[in-house]
Amino acid sequence: MEVLHISFEFYPLAKTGGLADVVGALPKYLNNLDISTGVILPKYDKSTFQDLKVISQTEGTVLLGTTEYLYTIEEIKDTRFEFPLYIVAIPSLLNRDQMYGYPDDVERFLGFQIAVLQWILTLKDKPQILHCHDHHTGLIPFMKDYCYDFEDLKPLKSIITIHNAQYQGQFGYEYEHYLPYFNEEDKGLLDWDQLINPLATAIKCADRVTTVSPTYMRELQQSAAGLEGLLVHEKNKCIGILNGIDATYWNPKTDSLLKEPYDRRNFISKRKIHKEWLCDTYGFIKELPLFIFIGRLVYEKGVDLLPEVIEKIMPQANLNLLLLGSGDQVIAANLKAAAQKVGTHCQVHIGYDEQLSHLMYAGGDFILMPSRVEPCGLNQMYALRYGTIPVVRRTGGLQDTVVDIGDDGYGICHAQATVTDICEGIRRAVELYSNSKFYRQTQRKAMQIDNSWNHSAKQYKTLYQSLIKYIHD
Ligand code: ADP
Ligand code: GLC
Repeated sequence: MEVLHISFEFYPLAKTGGLADVVGALPKYLNNLDISTGVILPKYDKSTFQDLKVISQTEGTVLLGTTEYLYTIEEIKDTRFEFPLYIVAIPSLLNRDQMYGYPDDVERFLGFQIAVLQWILTLKDKPQILHCHDHHTGLIPFMKDYCYDFEDLKPLKSIITIHNAQYQGQFGYEYEHYLPYFNEEDKGLLDWDQLINPLATAIKCADRVTTVSPTYMRELQQSAAGLEGLLVHEKNKCIGILNGIDATYWNPKTDSLLKEPYDRRNFISKRKIHKEWLCDTYGFIKELPLFIFIGRLVYEKGVDLLPEVIEKIMPQANLNLLLLGSGDQVIAANLKAAAQKVGTHCQVHIGYDEQLSHLMYAGGDFILMPSRVEPCGLNQMYALRYGTIPVVRRTGGLQDTVVDIGDDGYGICHAQATVTDICEGIRRAVELYSNSKFYRQTQRKAMQIDNSWNHSAKQYKTLYQSLIKYIHD
């Protein structure tokens, strides 16, 4: 194996957002480019982990302070995955129904990372590159290079991909003794603002730092929740590589979660079936444009602005709006209250529902993404492929993937995450919809765009080649 992806999420086994989609898809595309790539992730208490066929397993123990945790690393054989897949079972730490949000997350993240490194030590055929994702795996580059236990792993290279710099995983020095022994002189590498900061440590120690779009990398050098100076300092090893999508899974032609498959030739009639189903289910008016929102209910997504948008625009403009999301309970309550005020043509579905999301991509006319921060965003790319036109704030990966109709593109972009700008975006969308010829042309254009991993996987290959010379074209 040349590259091992180390992640807390992986679609279809464990997903809260786009990280899972990326780690579920990129390895497949890398293997197609002859980069032998595997994935390792925690084993959670989820039905998706039941009945996985284990073909080999290794056991060990991790010591955190004075507590010993037994672990098992299982190699999985499953026809759904075309690459080596390993899961780390640490029953008392990882066997939970959620991925994050527990009081012992520090122990959970550390236990996983140490178990992974111990296991790599035992491998005859070691990966040459450890590709870490987000702060949960951010201490691996440090431990590999500076902890005595892992001295033999020093020649391996490491990469950190920042999916979201808002989350850095900081914790206090009372946990320092949980890390395997290292030289006191190297302690400064762990530090950021008098805390151990796994994301900052990864940026300092990894051989390369990537993030998930070129614009977000530029934005991070201006503002990165306190890490902007560090990212400027390390800029020579930083690169923004745009995420792609798994174009075999996110394909309306073969998507088994849809009512009926479709492609560019028959999308008008088939998308109509999906829109009608959504309208019947939620009590919408079929003749009006259907706007959708799908995503985490958090401040970064700008979704907290939508209650005011709903109250302002829905009594005036003729449209339907369906929101699907989970997260902040205050935001959820505010959305519901606003929807109730404006009547049946605005509905809020709280929860995580993979199938409904597919039906919405297939039946919605426009998708709203008013993000304050969007490192890449996958929703807009899925929407484009399914023929739903994105209405997005021009930021991060949204800026890199959506071209405004005014610039001969296939989306609607607004400058700020404000109620005024979002309402203006919606107004432009309603106008576009009323010109059905232009709207259909725009949909056709959108569905033709190739946002698959084909392009970006090549960029990762080039990056890997810069670290290990023997990967050839
Ligand atoms: P982020 O990772 O910041 O949440 P992305 O746009 O990268 O945002 O990825 C979001 C992914 O999660 C997409 O696959 C989207 O369809 C999915 N998703 C988000 N919220 C929900 C939900 N409530 N139900 C179903 N899918 C969801
Ligand atoms: C993060 C970002 C999102 C990105 C995803 C996958 O969750 O918030 O913008 O698309 O990671 O990289």
